[in-house]
Amino acid sequence: MSREEPVLVTKSTMPPLQEVVKLLEGVWERAYLTNNGPLLQQFERLIAARNGVADAVAVANGTLAIELLLEAFDIKGEVITTPFTFPATATAICRAGAEPVFVDIDPETWNIDPQAVERAITPNTTAILGVHVFGRPCDVRRLERIAKTNHLRLIYDAAHANFVRTQGKSIFEWGDASSVSFHATKLFHTSEGGACFSPDPEIRAKIRRLRNFGYGANARLTEVGTNAKMMEFAAAVGIVNLRRVDSVIESRRRLYRLYKERLAGIDSLAFQKIDGDETNFGYFPVVFPSEEILLRVIQELNQKNIFPRRYFWPLLSDMTPFAEASSSSLAVAKTVSSRIVCLPFYPDMGEDVVGEICDTIRQFV
Ligand SMILES: Cc1ncc(COP(=O)(O)O)c(C=O)c1O
Repeated sequence: MSREEPVLVTKSTMPPLQEVVKLLEGVWERAYLTNNGPLLQQFERLIAARNGVADAVAVANGTLAIELLLEAFDIKGEVITTPFTFPATATAICRAGAEPVFVDIDPETWNIDPQAVERAITPNTTAILGVHVFGRPCDVRRLERIAKTNHLRLIYDAAHANFVRTQGKSIFEWGDASSVSFHATKLFHTSEGGACFSPDPEIRAKIRRLRNFGYGANARLTEVGTNAKMMEFAAAVGIVNLRRVDSVIESRRRLYRLYKERLAGIDSLAFQKIDGDETNFGYFPVVFPSEEILLRVIQELNQKNIFPRRYFWPLLSDMTPFAEASSSSLAVAKTVSSRIVCLPFYPDMGEDVVGEICDTIRQFV
Protein backbone atom coordinates (compact mmCIF):
# COMPACT_ATOMS: atom_id res chain seq x y z
CA MET A 1 0.00 0.00 0.00
CA SER A 2 1.49 3.38 -0.89
CA ARG A 3 1.03 6.54 1.17
CA GLU A 4 0.05 9.92 -0.26
CA GLU A 5 2.94 11.97 1.14
CA PRO A 6 6.36 10.65 0.11
CA VAL A 7 8.80 9.85 2.92
CA LEU A 8 12.11 11.38 1.87
CA VAL A 9 15.55 10.73 3.34
CA THR A 10 15.26 13.90 5.39
CA LYS A 11 12.96 16.83 6.07
CA SER A 12 13.98 20.33 7.12
CA THR A 13 13.24 21.29 10.73
CA MET A 14 11.05 24.38 10.45
CA PRO A 15 11.59 26.96 13.20
CA PRO A 16 8.39 28.42 14.74
CA LEU A 17 7.39 31.12 12.28
CA GLN A 18 6.35 33.68 14.91
CA GLU A 19 9.78 33.55 16.54
CA VAL A 20 11.49 34.12 13.21
CA VAL A 21 9.08 36.96 12.40
CA LYS A 22 9.95 38.62 15.73
CA LEU A 23 13.61 38.70 14.74
CA LEU A 24 12.76 39.86 11.23
CA GLU A 25 10.83 42.83 12.68
CA GLY A 26 14.15 44.04 14.01
CA VAL A 27 15.71 43.58 10.58
CA TRP A 28 12.92 45.71 9.09
CA GLU A 29 13.30 48.41 11.74
CA ARG A 30 17.04 48.62 11.17
CA ALA A 31 16.73 48.18 7.39
CA TYR A 32 19.98 46.28 7.69
CA LEU A 33 19.95 43.01 5.74
CA THR A 34 23.53 41.80 5.54
CA ASN A 35 27.21 42.81 6.04
CA ASN A 36 28.11 41.65 9.53
CA GLY A 37 24.70 42.60 10.95
CA PRO A 38 23.60 42.25 14.59
CA LEU A 39 21.80 38.91 14.03
CA LEU A 40 24.86 37.48 12.30
CA GLN A 41 27.04 38.54 15.21
CA GLN A 42 24.57 37.11 17.73
CA PHE A 43 24.36 33.85 15.78
CA GLU A 44 28.16 33.54 15.69
CA ARG A 45 28.33 33.93 19.49
CA LEU A 46 25.52 31.40 20.05
CA ILE A 47 26.80 28.69 17.71
CA ALA A 48 30.34 29.02 19.11
CA ALA A 49 29.01 28.74 22.68
CA ARG A 50 26.80 25.73 21.82
CA ASN A 51 29.90 23.98 20.48
CA GLY A 52 32.07 25.11 23.41
CA VAL A 53 34.56 27.00 21.23
CA ALA A 54 35.79 30.57 21.41
CA ASP A 55 34.59 31.82 18.05
CA ALA A 56 32.81 30.87 14.82
CA VAL A 57 32.97 32.63 11.46
CA ALA A 58 29.58 32.21 9.79
CA VAL A 59 29.48 32.12 6.00
CA ALA A 60 26.95 31.66 3.19
CA ASN A 61 27.24 27.87 2.93
CA GLY A 62 29.38 24.86 3.82
CA THR A 63 31.03 24.69 0.40
CA LEU A 64 32.40 28.23 0.63
CA ALA A 65 33.49 27.43 4.18
CA ILE A 66 35.88 24.73 2.87
CA GLU A 67 37.05 26.98 0.05
CA LEU A 68 37.81 29.82 2.47
CA LEU A 69 39.78 27.50 4.78
CA LEU A 70 41.97 26.30 1.93
CA GLU A 71 42.49 29.90 0.80
CA ALA A 72 43.25 31.10 4.32
CA PHE A 73 46.11 28.60 4.56
CA ASP A 74 47.11 29.17 0.92
CA ILE A 75 46.92 25.43 0.21
CA LYS A 76 48.39 24.40 -3.16
CA GLY A 77 50.00 21.14 -4.36
CA GLU A 78 48.58 17.76 -3.35
CA VAL A 79 45.83 17.44 -0.76
CA ILE A 80 45.10 13.96 0.55
CA THR A 81 41.40 13.35 1.02
CA THR A 82 38.62 10.76 0.91
CA PRO A 83 36.51 9.85 -2.12
CA PHE A 84 33.63 8.82 0.20
CA THR A 85 32.12 12.27 0.64
CA PHE A 86 29.99 14.95 -0.95
CA PRO A 87 31.49 16.61 -4.07
CA ALA A 88 32.14 19.94 -2.28
CA THR A 89 35.08 18.42 -0.36
CA ALA A 90 37.05 17.76 -3.52
CA THR A 91 35.73 20.57 -5.72
CA ALA A 92 36.97 23.01 -3.05
CA ILE A 93 40.47 21.54 -3.38
CA CYS A 94 40.44 22.03 -7.17
CA ARG A 95 39.00 25.54 -6.93
CA ALA A 96 41.85 26.46 -4.57
CA GLY A 97 44.27 25.50 -7.37
CA ALA A 98 45.38 22.34 -5.56
CA GLU A 99 45.06 18.68 -6.51
CA PRO A 100 42.98 16.08 -4.66
CA VAL A 101 44.66 12.74 -3.98
CA PHE A 102 42.11 10.12 -2.97
CA VAL A 103 42.95 7.44 -0.43
CA ASP A 104 40.91 4.61 1.05
CA ILE A 105 38.62 4.67 4.07
CA ASP A 106 38.48 2.65 7.26
CA PRO A 107 36.07 -0.32 6.95
CA GLU A 108 34.35 0.41 10.29
CA THR A 109 34.20 4.20 10.55
CA TRP A 110 34.14 4.93 6.78
CA ASN A 111 36.46 7.88 7.45
CA ILE A 112 39.83 8.46 5.80
CA ASP A 113 42.28 5.68 6.73
CA PRO A 114 45.38 7.18 8.45
CA GLN A 115 47.63 4.38 7.16
CA ALA A 116 46.55 5.10 3.59
CA VAL A 117 47.20 8.81 4.22
CA GLU A 118 50.76 8.06 5.31
CA ARG A 119 51.44 5.95 2.24
CA ALA A 120 50.16 8.69 -0.10
CA ILE A 121 52.44 11.47 1.17
CA THR A 122 54.87 12.79 -1.47
CA PRO A 123 57.16 15.85 -1.53
CA ASN A 124 54.24 17.75 -3.13
CA THR A 125 51.75 17.01 -0.35
CA THR A 126 50.71 20.14 1.56
CA ALA A 127 47.59 19.14 3.48
CA ILE A 128 45.20 16.45 4.65
CA LEU A 129 41.50 17.21 4.25
CA GLY A 130 39.55 14.77 6.43
CA VAL A 131 35.76 14.44 6.52
CA HIS A 132 33.92 13.34 9.69
CA VAL A 133 31.51 11.37 7.57
CA PHE A 134 27.92 11.26 8.91
CA GLY A 135 29.28 13.17 11.93
CA ARG A 136 31.53 10.32 13.07
CA PRO A 137 34.90 11.76 14.15
CA CYS A 138 37.98 10.80 12.12
CA ASP A 139 40.93 9.26 13.94
CA VAL A 140 41.92 12.79 14.96
CA ARG A 141 44.93 11.84 17.09
CA ARG A 142 46.62 9.72 14.44
CA LEU A 143 45.94 12.27 11.73
CA GLU A 144 47.40 14.97 13.98
CA ARG A 145 50.58 12.91 14.49
CA ILE A 146 50.92 12.30 10.74
CA ALA A 147 50.35 15.97 9.93
CA LYS A 148 52.90 17.14 12.54
CA THR A 149 55.57 14.63 11.53
CA ASN A 150 55.24 15.54 7.86
CA HIS A 151 54.68 19.31 8.27
CA LEU A 152 51.25 19.18 6.66
CA ARG A 153 48.18 21.26 7.31
CA LEU A 154 45.30 19.27 8.79
CA ILE A 155 41.88 20.60 7.82
CA TYR A 156 38.49 19.01 8.44
CA ASP A 157 35.34 19.18 6.38
CA ALA A 158 33.06 18.81 9.41
CA ALA A 159 29.90 19.52 7.38
CA HIS A 160 28.04 16.69 9.17
CA ALA A 161 29.60 17.02 12.60
CA ASN A 162 27.95 20.05 14.23
CA PHE A 163 27.79 19.66 18.05
CA VAL A 164 29.90 16.48 18.07
CA ARG A 165 32.56 16.18 20.76
CA THR A 166 35.44 13.77 20.84
CA GLN A 167 37.97 13.07 23.55
CA GLY A 168 36.80 15.89 25.76
CA LYS A 169 36.59 18.68 23.24
CA SER A 170 34.56 20.01 20.36
CA ILE A 171 35.17 18.36 17.01
CA PHE A 172 35.95 21.88 15.72
CA GLU A 173 38.98 22.17 17.99
CA TRP A 174 40.91 19.42 16.20
CA GLY A 175 43.34 20.12 13.38
CA ASP A 176 44.29 23.54 12.03
CA ALA A 177 40.71 24.41 11.10
CA SER A 178 37.26 22.99 10.34
CA SER A 179 34.22 23.87 8.27
CA VAL A 180 30.59 22.99 8.92
CA SER A 181 27.40 23.14 6.85
CA PHE A 182 24.12 24.61 8.04
CA HIS A 183 22.25 23.54 4.90
CA ALA A 184 18.48 23.03 5.14
CA THR A 185 18.91 19.24 5.20
CA LYS A 186 21.30 19.20 8.16
CA LEU A 187 20.07 18.42 11.69
CA PHE A 188 20.64 22.08 12.51
CA HIS A 189 20.30 24.65 9.72
CA THR A 190 20.12 28.29 8.77
CA SER A 191 18.38 27.43 5.41
CA GLU A 192 21.69 27.94 3.59
CA GLY A 193 24.78 28.55 5.66
CA GLY A 194 28.02 27.31 7.08
CA ALA A 195 30.88 28.32 9.34
CA CYS A 196 34.64 28.12 9.74
CA PHE A 197 36.42 27.33 12.99
CA SER A 198 40.09 27.58 13.86
CA PRO A 199 42.00 27.83 17.11
CA ASP A 200 44.20 30.44 15.37
CA PRO A 201 42.72 33.96 15.76
CA GLU A 202 44.74 35.24 12.78
CA ILE A 203 43.20 32.62 10.53
CA ARG A 204 39.72 33.56 11.79
CA ALA A 205 40.43 37.23 11.10
CA LYS A 206 41.68 36.37 7.61
CA ILE A 207 38.53 34.34 6.88
CA ARG A 208 36.41 37.30 8.04
CA ARG A 209 38.25 39.44 5.45
CA LEU A 210 38.04 36.77 2.73
CA ARG A 211 34.27 36.32 3.16
CA ASN A 212 33.89 40.08 2.62
CA PHE A 213 35.74 40.49 -0.71
CA GLY A 214 39.12 40.73 1.05
CA TYR A 215 38.39 44.03 2.77
CA GLY A 216 40.59 44.87 5.75
CA ALA A 217 40.35 48.03 7.85
CA ASN A 218 39.61 51.45 6.35
CA ALA A 219 37.91 50.06 3.25
CA ARG A 220 41.23 48.77 1.87
CA LEU A 221 41.56 45.38 0.22
CA THR A 222 44.20 43.26 1.88
CA GLU A 223 43.67 40.10 -0.16
CA VAL A 224 41.63 38.65 -3.00
CA GLY A 225 38.47 37.55 -1.28
CA THR A 226 34.96 36.65 -2.34
CA ASN A 227 31.40 37.27 -1.22
CA ALA A 228 30.60 34.53 1.29
CA LYS A 229 28.59 36.57 3.78
CA MET A 230 25.70 35.08 5.71
CA MET A 231 22.54 37.21 5.47
CA GLU A 232 20.49 38.38 8.44
CA PHE A 233 17.58 36.15 7.28
CA ALA A 234 19.73 33.04 7.55
CA ALA A 235 21.11 34.12 10.93
CA ALA A 236 17.52 34.63 12.20
CA VAL A 237 16.56 31.06 11.19
CA GLY A 238 19.72 29.80 12.89
CA ILE A 239 19.07 31.69 16.15
CA VAL A 240 15.54 30.30 16.41
CA ASN A 241 16.54 26.76 15.40
CA LEU A 242 19.28 26.77 18.04
CA ARG A 243 16.66 27.26 20.77
CA ARG A 244 15.25 23.80 20.04
CA VAL A 245 18.29 21.89 18.98
CA ASP A 246 18.45 19.76 22.13
CA SER A 247 14.95 18.39 21.58
CA VAL A 248 15.71 17.82 17.88
CA ILE A 249 18.76 15.74 18.82
CA GLU A 250 16.74 13.90 21.49
CA SER A 251 14.05 12.93 18.96
CA ARG A 252 16.74 11.75 16.57
CA ARG A 253 18.40 9.72 19.33
CA ARG A 254 15.06 8.00 20.01
CA LEU A 255 14.49 7.16 16.33
CA TYR A 256 18.08 6.01 15.96
CA ARG A 257 17.59 3.54 18.84
CA LEU A 258 14.31 2.38 17.34
CA TYR A 259 15.95 1.66 13.97
CA LYS A 260 18.76 -0.22 15.73
CA GLU A 261 16.26 -2.26 17.76
CA ARG A 262 14.10 -3.12 14.77
CA LEU A 263 17.14 -4.15 12.69
CA ALA A 264 18.85 -6.03 15.51
CA GLY A 265 19.94 -9.58 14.81
CA ILE A 266 20.37 -9.17 11.05
CA ASP A 267 24.03 -10.12 10.89
CA SER A 268 24.46 -9.29 7.23
CA LEU A 269 23.75 -5.56 7.80
CA ALA A 270 26.60 -3.28 8.89
CA PHE A 271 26.33 0.02 10.75
CA GLN A 272 28.89 2.79 11.24
CA LYS A 273 31.08 2.21 14.28
CA ILE A 274 30.35 4.95 16.82
CA ASP A 275 32.41 5.39 20.00
CA GLY A 276 30.28 6.17 23.08
CA ASP A 277 28.14 9.25 22.47
CA GLU A 278 30.35 10.69 19.71
CA THR A 279 27.52 11.34 17.27
CA ASN A 280 24.87 13.99 16.63
CA PHE A 281 22.37 11.47 15.17
CA GLY A 282 22.42 13.32 11.86
CA TYR A 283 22.03 10.28 9.56
CA PHE A 284 21.02 6.63 9.64
CA PRO A 285 23.28 4.85 7.16
CA VAL A 286 23.17 1.06 6.61
CA VAL A 287 25.47 -1.16 4.55
CA PHE A 288 23.78 -4.11 2.82
CA PRO A 289 25.44 -7.45 2.02
CA SER A 290 25.37 -6.73 -1.73
CA GLU A 291 24.44 -3.97 -4.16
CA GLU A 292 21.82 -6.29 -5.65
CA ILE A 293 19.99 -6.63 -2.32
CA LEU A 294 20.32 -2.90 -1.70
CA LEU A 295 18.70 -2.12 -5.05
CA ARG A 296 15.85 -4.55 -4.40
CA VAL A 297 15.15 -2.97 -1.00
CA ILE A 298 15.21 0.54 -2.51
CA GLN A 299 12.83 -0.54 -5.27
CA GLU A 300 10.41 -2.06 -2.77
CA LEU A 301 10.53 1.03 -0.53
CA ASN A 302 10.03 3.34 -3.51
CA GLN A 303 6.84 1.43 -4.31
CA LYS A 304 5.66 2.31 -0.82
CA ASN A 305 6.49 5.97 -1.52
CA ILE A 306 9.58 5.82 0.74
CA PHE A 307 12.83 7.24 -0.66
CA PRO A 308 16.10 6.43 1.10
CA ARG A 309 19.21 7.93 -0.52
CA ARG A 310 22.45 6.38 -1.72
CA TYR A 311 25.01 8.54 0.16
CA PHE A 312 27.83 8.56 -0.95
CA TRP A 313 27.56 6.94 -4.31
CA PRO A 314 29.09 7.11 -6.86
CA LEU A 315 32.47 7.64 -5.24
CA LEU A 316 34.00 10.99 -6.18
CA SER A 317 36.87 9.17 -7.88
CA ASP A 318 34.30 7.67 -10.28
CA MET A 319 32.81 11.04 -11.24
CA THR A 320 33.86 12.84 -14.42
CA PRO A 321 35.81 15.81 -12.95
CA PHE A 322 37.91 13.45 -10.83
CA ALA A 323 38.34 10.55 -13.23
CA GLU A 324 41.99 11.53 -13.79
CA ALA A 325 42.74 12.38 -10.13
CA SER A 326 45.47 10.35 -8.48
CA SER A 327 44.41 7.73 -6.03
CA SER A 328 45.76 4.64 -4.33
CA SER A 329 43.68 1.48 -3.84
CA LEU A 330 40.12 2.45 -2.94
CA ALA A 331 38.90 -1.10 -2.35
CA VAL A 332 37.08 -0.39 0.93
CA ALA A 333 35.54 2.86 -0.30
CA LYS A 334 34.31 1.09 -3.44
CA THR A 335 32.62 -1.75 -1.63
CA VAL A 336 31.04 0.47 1.07
CA SER A 337 29.86 3.04 -1.48
CA SER A 338 28.15 0.43 -3.66
CA ARG A 339 26.21 -1.11 -0.75
CA ILE A 340 25.31 1.84 1.51
CA VAL A 341 22.09 3.78 1.83
CA CYS A 342 20.85 6.43 4.26
CA LEU A 343 17.40 5.58 5.55
CA PRO A 344 14.75 8.31 6.07
CA PHE A 345 15.57 10.02 9.36
CA TYR A 346 14.06 13.21 10.79
CA PRO A 347 12.49 14.18 14.13
CA ASP A 348 8.78 14.04 13.32
CA MET A 349 9.02 10.79 11.36
CA GLY A 350 6.42 8.32 12.60
CA GLU A 351 7.57 5.23 14.46
CA ASP A 352 5.24 3.24 12.21
CA VAL A 353 7.31 4.35 9.19
CA VAL A 354 10.50 3.14 10.88
CA GLY A 355 8.72 -0.17 11.48
CA GLU A 356 7.58 -0.42 7.86
CA ILE A 357 11.10 0.32 6.54
CA CYS A 358 12.67 -2.27 8.85
CA ASP A 359 10.05 -4.92 8.00
CA THR A 360 10.73 -4.33 4.29
CA ILE A 361 14.48 -4.70 4.84
CA ARG A 362 13.91 -7.95 6.75
CA GLN A 363 12.15 -9.44 3.73
CA PHE A 364 15.36 -9.19 1.69
CA VAL A 365 18.24 -9.89 4.05
C1 LIG B 1 30.62 16.34 3.45
C2 LIG B 1 30.04 17.62 2.94
N1 LIG B 1 30.86 18.66 2.70
C3 LIG B 1 30.38 19.84 2.25
C4 LIG B 1 29.04 20.04 1.99
C5 LIG B 1 28.57 21.34 1.43
O1 LIG B 1 27.75 22.06 2.29
P1 LIG B 1 26.68 23.11 1.72
O2 LIG B 1 25.58 22.35 1.10
O3 LIG B 1 26.26 23.88 2.94
O4 LIG B 1 27.40 23.98 0.73
C6 LIG B 1 28.16 18.99 2.22
C7 LIG B 1 26.72 19.22 1.93
O5 LIG B 1 25.83 18.64 2.30
C8 LIG B 1 28.65 17.75 2.70
O6 LIG B 1 27.83 16.70 2.89
